[in-house]
Amino acid sequence: MHELILALETSCDETAAAVFDTQKGMLSNVLYSQIELHKSFGGVVPEIASRAHIEKINEIVSSALTTANVTLDQITTIGVTSKPGLPGSLLVGCSFAKAMAGALNKKIIAIDHLEGHAFSANIEHNIPFPFLCITASGGHTSMYLIKDFGDYTTISTTADDAAGEAFDKIAKLLELGYPGGPIIEKRAASKNFQDFFKYPRGDKKSLNFSFSGLKTAVLYDLVKRGAYDLPSKTLLNTSEALKDQVASSLQVCIADIFAQKVLNALQVYPELKAVSFVGGVACNKYIRAQLKTLVEKTGRQFFVPHPQYCTDNAGMIAFVTHYKAQRNQFSDLTFDIL
Ligand code: KG4
Ligand code: ZN
Repeated sequence: MHELILALETSCDETAAAVFDTQKGMLSNVLYSQIELHKSFGGVVPEIASRAHIEKINEIVSSALTTANVTLDQITTIGVTSKPGLPGSLLVGCSFAKAMAGALNKKIIAIDHLEGHAFSANIEHNIPFPFLCITASGGHTSMYLIKDFGDYTTISTTADDAAGEAFDKIAKLLELGYPGGPIIEKRAASKNFQDFFKYPRGDKKSLNFSFSGLKTAVLYDLVKRGAYDLPSKTLLNTSEALKDQVASSLQVCIADIFAQKVLNALQVYPELKAVSFVGGVACNKYIRAQLKTLVEKTGRQFFVPHPQYCTDNAGMIAFVTHYKAQRNQFSDLTFDIL
């Protein structure tokens, strides 16, 4: 059946809306990023996030419809992220979506944000099943064995911090700004991705991730170099050159960790035909390149989403909504968040 989907995503610090046509594909993918509001805090402040969503959501939804050149009347199904995320932020998107669906008599589907990420590389690529998906974002780092649209098993996750969180926390430690990932990558490039300090790679045999030890290792290495004072928790007068070296070593270390986990997964699941790398951290060109080389060496295809579908966006939520709508997996208006 032909469906015209409107999707909303407000799980964290992006107010996003997208329109997807089951015949024509993605018609719009609009977002307002709150990064500027949270920057000075070095991370997302939940209370500020929900307030910004409620201010912006109407404008973003209107903009998604206008860009797609469709009217709300024409929309057949509304998709909305209902979990996981910041409760106050999720409530804004879900209440808005429910109000529209209830008042205008539209079908509605509650979507898992992580399912959105997991299928985000499928928006523009025809990926053979079964494939391995590595999701790496600011809040999550997991690997999935994906057998079909909506049919997937989590094969590993992180014991503590997410990969993006490691980039963000270490960037904060070095007083580099937020979000940390792109800043670390840029500084690492200025040092040609040399591995100066050889930070620990963690348990090489495990499928699971762990990044909190890495943060501690960087911290103690800085202390050893006289660049950080533990009692007062302050960065001392540290040279830009040292910050670049830390960034470069960190970038290489995190890429190595991903490479090792992918190799482990391909060994445990030899039937995998392809690998996708998604989420905010998948914007990282260095990690993309390393994984592409490694995966292609094993004779498999490697996929990444367009950067607009890597960081949080409503396009990926619209895409999941479309295949759930085609399978008649609609929600009713009583669904809860989380
Ligand atoms: O997917 P996303 O927008 O939000 C979550 O669902 O968490 O991911 C945001 C994360 C941040 O931690 C940010 O530092 C990281 O993605 N990120 C990157 C890069 N661009 C964004 N990490 C490494 N390299 C990048 N180029
Ligand atoms: Zn996300």
